[in-house]
Amino acid sequence: MIATEPVLGVKPADQYLFYIILSPVAAYYSGGLSPVKILVSDEYSRVPAGGTGEAKTGGNYASSLYASTLASKEGYDQVLWLDSVERKYVEEVGSMNICFLYDGKVVTSPLKGSILNGITRRSILTLVKEFGYEVEERALTIDEVLEGAKNGRLTEAFGTGTAAVVSPVGQFTYQDQDVLLGNGNAGELTMKLYNTLTGIQYGLCEDKHNWVSLL
Ligand SMILES: Cc1ncc(COP(=O)(O)O)c(C=O)c1O
Repeated sequence: MIATEPVLGVKPADQYLFYIILSPVAAYYSGGLSPVKILVSDEYSRVPAGGTGEAKTGGNYASSLYASTLASKEGYDQVLWLDSVERKYVEEVGSMNICFLYDGKVVTSPLKGSILNGITRRSILTLVKEFGYEVEERALTIDEVLEGAKNGRLTEAFGTGTAAVVSPVGQFTYQDQDVLLGNGNAGELTMKLYNTLTGIQYGLCEDKHNWVSLL
């Protein structure tokens, strides 16, 4: 949505154009369903507390691009953002919400205004409950992620998004510590979610919630 009023100035506009671009897309990550490598940013913030983090607005992406460019130069696919106040709690990834399979439960950051209320996140939380998993929408610390991967409490991590669909995470790097998950393979739950969600989209699985609209 862009302002179209013929005015120069800093103010909310009175006229807008809302438009939707539709186009075919390839897999979001070059490796397809190969697990992605994620750099945890402890230096930069995507959004401040009290800011526009839950809105899909250009400014949020502008403030994320420097860190993601640096991460990309170092061979990472994306940046994982921590909360901007304590830089301790996991929030979301550059273009995906993030979920963890922790102690057998699906844990994801709560919606407190700083992360996008992703439609794929909602669909995935619905599906995992149907599969019988307990869901915890709670603040997970980066230390829990690191420890959990080492002691086996964290078994899978995956991002969710319209473009990313369900993307397995194979590595987090935080302050020069590498945490590896899944021996280079996507986890079982991650694959089941990917197959179910794309199956619903392609009409191969039952669409119990009427998520698909036929035009
Ligand atoms: C910052 C961010 N978080 C999460 C998402 C996932 O949102 P959705 O599932 O609505 O595509 C996106 C998608 O573009 C995003 O850019």
